[in-house]
Amino acid sequence: MRIIRAHGFGGPDQLVIDEVPLPDPGPGQLRLRVRGIGINPVDWKLLSGKAPVLPSLPLVPGGDVAGVVDAVGEGVAAFAVGDRVMAHPGLTGGYAEALVVDASACAIVPTSLDLVDAASLPLVALTAWQGLVADGRDIAGLHVLVHNAAGGVGTAAVQIVKALGGRVTGTASFGNSDYVRSLGADDVVDFRVDAPDGRRRDIDILLDLVGNSKETGLWSLVRSGGSVIRVAGGADAPNAAEEDGIRAYKVRVRPNGEQLARIAALVGEGRMRPEIAQHFTFDQIPDALRASMSGHIRGKIVASVK
Ligand SMILES: NC(=O)c1ccc[n+]([C@@H]2O[C@H](COP(=O)([O-])OP(=O)(O)OC[C@H]3O[C@@H](n4cnc5c(N)ncnc54)[C@H](OP(=O)(O)O)[C@@H]3O)[C@@H](O)[C@H]2O)c1
Repeated sequence: MRIIRAHGFGGPDQLVIDEVPLPDPGPGQLRLRVRGIGINPVDWKLLSGKAPVLPSLPLVPGGDVAGVVDAVGEGVAAFAVGDRVMAHPGLTGGYAEALVVDASACAIVPTSLDLVDAASLPLVALTAWQGLVADGRDIAGLHVLVHNAAGGVGTAAVQIVKALGGRVTGTASFGNSDYVRSLGADDVVDFRVDAPDGRRRDIDILLDLVGNSKETGLWSLVRSGGSVIRVAGGADAPNAAEEDGIRAYKVRVRPNGEQLARIAALVGEGRMRPEIAQHFTFDQIPDALRASMSGHIRGKIVASVK
């Protein structure tokens, strides 16, 4: 089988296609014949060698896959050969024609969803889910400010909040404004143009997908007792009570098949859809990474595997 990996840190030019033996699933694992791979900014950040935690080399990037189960490890009862599943297996290992992954990280893909498009969902939707609802918060009726609503995590977050009965204001550039509304956002603003007006302090949760919400004054929109969830930027902040009673904390996405199944259910019910900006092939993954590095992607980039 073929994998795409880097033997040194740097840009997408470091990626090469290597031939390796097909892995066997251990206890509690599945082997997937990968059909789709989702591309995320973390892929090129890890490849750069400048991420806070340095991965080991050779590095196989890729934290988003969907495919067909072709082997099942000991003790796995929830999945069988032939099942169509998607997974966030962890932050690496996904750029491969086949993959061994913990069954506990997998969820069945709804029949309505193509496997290539399904690969766009796990990492970004789990990030949004774990930030917004996984700690048991009921977001029905809450007002969520999604800072960067047009990117991968933002498009998932907007849809999840709306599906669960919340209200969404999204930040996006003028050119992405109608697009973000089409995802269900109630309001769209561009704080790169308009300064935040702290007199209207009605945000319950600020989901920061840029990493500059404090410096740009977005915290002034959050009500006392509200939360700031930092997904992007900055060092890990401890869970701390911040000024005016705003609780700020950092989220790091983790594999979780049960949460992914809840997200798959929203897709199956037609309350959420994958947002695909561009399709590439497996061999074109270095180009897919270059596109992601532009920083102007609407939704996700995916690569198909034959
Ligand atoms: N902590 C975690 O576990 C975790 C998980 C997933 C992602 N992340 C991080 O979260 C960040 C977002 O990820 P992503 O996949 O959503 O990124 P992305 O898809 O690459 O985001 C692209 C979008 O960002 C928009 N954007 C850039 N600056 C903006 C600003 N100041 N205001 C509003 N929109 C802005 C761009 O819109 P324009 O074209 O209009 O500029 C574009 O639509 C990345 O840094 C990623 O590494 C962290």
